[in-house]
Amino acid sequence: PKLFVVTREGEEKVVDGQVGLTVMENIRDNGFDELLALCGGCCSCATCHVHVDAADFDKLKPMGDDENDLLDSSDHRVATSRLSCQIPFTEELDGLRVTIAPED
Ligand code: FES
Repeated sequence: PKLFVVTREGEEKVVDGQVGLTVMENIRDNGFDELLALCGGCCSCATCHVHVDAADFDKLKPMGDDENDLLDSSDHRVATSRLSCQIPFTEELDGLRVTIAPED
């Protein structure tokens, strides 16, 4: 499945996403160094913050309380903010489009 990633500079790139990895891992493994993902995916750093395309947002499973709390610590939270390490990438998410959020 395809994953579209928009960088902080506004450049859109398409990635061949791997099912079984999270969206964060798919982004990181494809060379987007600006997605720091410092905690490695354990929902404690918020440096994997992305803005999900509004059209795709409802396809995602609801976020947990930890994720919600962590997103609240960001100055760049929007209605479609998610932590990409908390989104398992699946076939159903083919075409998902996310923008890497500005650095906090
Ligand atoms: Fe740290 Fe997602 S990688 S919260």
